Amino acid sequence: MSILKIPTAKVFEPLLKPARYKGAFGGRGSGKSHFFGELLVEMCQAERGTLAVCIREAQRTLAQSSKRLVESKIASLGIGAGFKLYSDRIGTPGDGVVIFRGMRDHTADSIKSLEGFKVAWIDEAQSLSAHSLALLRPTIRAPGSELWASWNPRRKSDAVDDFLRVRKPPGAIVVNASWRDNPWFPAVLEEERRTDLSLYPARYQHIWEGDYVQAFEGAYFAEMLSQARSSGRIGKIAADPLLPLRAFIDIGGAGATADAFTIWVVQWAGSQIKVLDYYESVGQVLAYHVNWLRSRGYQNAILYLPHDGMAMNNITGKRYEDHLRDAGFTVEPPVKNQGRGAAMMRIEALRRLGPQIWWNEATTEAGRDAIGFYHERKDEVRNVGLGPEHDWSSHAADALGLMAICYEAPGRAGSFNRVIRYRDHGWV
Ligand SMILES: Nc1ncnc2c1ncn2[C@@H]1O[C@H](COP(=O)(O)OP(=O)(O)O)[C@@H](O)[C@H]1O
Ligand SMILES: [Mg+2]
Repeated sequence: MSILKIPTAKVFEPLLKPARYKGAFGGRGSGKSHFFGELLVEMCQAERGTLAVCIREAQRTLAQSSKRLVESKIASLGIGAGFKLYSDRIGTPGDGVVIFRGMRDHTADSIKSLEGFKVAWIDEAQSLSAHSLALLRPTIRAPGSELWASWNPRRKSDAVDDFLRVRKPPGAIVVNASWRDNPWFPAVLEEERRTDLSLYPARYQHIWEGDYVQAFEGAYFAEMLSQARSSGRIGKIAADPLLPLRAFIDIGGAGATADAFTIWVVQWAGSQIKVLDYYESVGQVLAYHVNWLRSRGYQNAILYLPHDGMAMNNITGKRYEDHLRDAGFTVEPPVKNQGRGAAMMRIEALRRLGPQIWWNEATTEAGRDAIGFYHERKDEVRNVGLGPEHDWSSHAADALGLMAICYEAPGRAGSFNRVIRYRDHGWV
């Protein structure tokens, strides 16, 4: 075994020990990618025949992979001899190999080709879907194999954050790095950092300090949420047992590539709008969502579906609306399709209602994160807005926007908030 002495930034030292799971998270320029790139080369050098895979969630071309970085590490560490560079992979000493893969291109079957791999390194792991993580973990199963992740945190509920920071498997080694920890932090990046700090303070904390995304330029609801916070409307909000519960739904579709299915549970209490609960999941069947509603005691909630609630479920050939009625729920007739501009109408309606909304803190965090992120897509060249960006955050925003539209629809809110008369007890 040859000995290789590589200077390592102090913050990454804990990651030099063997562990099943290793993670490094933090802002830009903290040396995360370089560290794991070096560790990978070091491992291939130390252990002959190492099979390693560098993973991204989406990788359309090799240029989007870690290949260049790994190659530059091989060159700069001066250990080129046992390594061979090919167009799509790197041969390592003793017939090992480093390959580069996008998780999105893998199926449950094709992923099996990675069994026997000793190391899987996921860079930009904030983009890794829960589905990809679930596929990958049992696949990397060689004795002593390791899974590494490096990422800039986006939301607490992202798969990698949830797994390595919130739940944290026993024995996992996870470090938080910042540009301050990087002894090689280059001058150009320092200049970039200062520029962002002075010109884009809203995004600075996320990009450079590794905080979860709070607000984004062009975020539609950032102001609404910060006002809710400062006026004490985010806290412990209890349901009123006398008022109906309403569940506003955005339908994601089924399958691994489907969008998120989201539900907001809300009560209209006079002029107060109580946002009590939030649910989101990707790639699950309808029964799974229904189960969530039941398990949280929402079996009597009135369900509201968007226009596509009328659409057929392509697996069963039935409308979602009918499925949910079959499951015993009361379903409001889907809101008419508002056509072009519907998304903007929902945004405006929700903003108008902003000051009336009270949020239950503990159960709505992931949903508030999402709608706080929901923002305008920009044509950077012409510097014009192109309407709401369709991404992980838009389904939460659509579902709550539906609530706002229904609340404002003339006559509806009033008639649904009537006092409930119980036969045995007279008026309550
Ligand atoms: N081990 C290292 N050796 C040499 N330069 C490094 C090393 N680690 C980081 N750097 C420098 O710091 C910059 C940022 O590191 P990088 O790994 O890209 O950060 P991150 O992945 O955290 O954004 C790199 O472009 C490089 O110039
Ligand atoms: Mg990086």
